[in-house]
Amino acid sequence: MDYKIGFIGAGKMATAIIKGIIDSGFCKSENIFVSDVSEAALEKMEKDLKISPLATNNEVVKAADIVFCAVKPFVLKDVLNGVKGDFNDKQLLVSIAAGVSIKTIEEFTGKMPVIRVMPNTPAFVKAGMSAVCRGTFATEKHSDLICKIFNSLGIAVKEDEKNIDVITAVSGSGPAYFYYFINEFAKAGVKYGLKKETALVLAAQTALGSAKMALETGVSLEQLIINVTTPGGCTEVGNNILAECKADEIIDKVVKGTMEKAAALGK
Ligand SMILES: NC(=O)c1ccc[n+]([C@@H]2O[C@H](COP(=O)([O-])OP(=O)(O)OC[C@H]3O[C@@H](n4cnc5c(N)ncnc54)[C@H](OP(=O)(O)O)[C@@H]3O)[C@@H](O)[C@H]2O)c1
Repeated sequence: MDYKIGFIGAGKMATAIIKGIIDSGFCKSENIFVSDVSEAALEKMEKDLKISPLATNNEVVKAADIVFCAVKPFVLKDVLNGVKGDFNDKQLLVSIAAGVSIKTIEEFTGKMPVIRVMPNTPAFVKAGMSAVCRGTFATEKHSDLICKIFNSLGIAVKEDEKNIDVITAVSGSGPAYFYYFINEFAKAGVKYGLKKETALVLAAQTALGSAKMALETGVSLEQLIINVTTPGGCTEVGNNILAECKADEIIDKVVKGTMEKAAALGK
């Protein structure tokens, strides 16, 4: 079936998901209906992705089988309040907002099926990571359908909503933290003599290759580290500096802080 998919919000995450949906052939661009309060955002998306722009959120809800709410968490309740009268019982609502619980969403949508997803922006290049949580009135079929969409944009896993704040920290916000590492490695490369473009490709391709090794070889991360580290060699020096600086504690703090913010957003 060729679904009609609606997006309320034409921002960064909606762009990543829509680009992935179109590139993977899941849905044609003309069957994607989008609204946004920002005319500039909507015009840009229409130009770049050839979606069908609509003037109001209400029109998007009326046009779509699956409605994605892709606005910031602090405007989600207002948006839902504005469109709640336009839903019909055959539709599926998907929220990607950090911190806003399914229970809160269902206060507006009643018995309609709701799926909450924590995606990430690498969906833009079909390397996204998404966690899919089922609402009270959503079926396994709804959940499978949304997993199918997000699997076409990378990897999707079904998860219990109780874990969504830690997922927000590890994979939702995670790209920002991994970009930071890539950037710092590239900056150090430049500091010690490399050209900027060379340093960037060395750092980014090394991150990509390491991620593929972690995902595809079945070898544990501890063993993969051992495999790169010759006793008494160069890598051992770097590993020891990471341990001395307690890099693990810093990462724990980053995850915990992000997680606590995600939990606070919903209150
Ligand atoms: N970005 C990420 O990496 C990421 C990752 C995982 C989850 N998320 C979640 O995805 C959601 C969207 O994030 P984002 O980064 O894509 O935000 P964004 O780039 O700011 O996009 C949101 C868009 O919604 C528009 N908007 C605001 N109020 C609206 C309304 N009443 N009706 C229709 N459109 C409205 C905004 O316009 P204005 O700018 O004019 O307000 C903006 O263009 C958030 O809930 C976030 O938690 C984001």
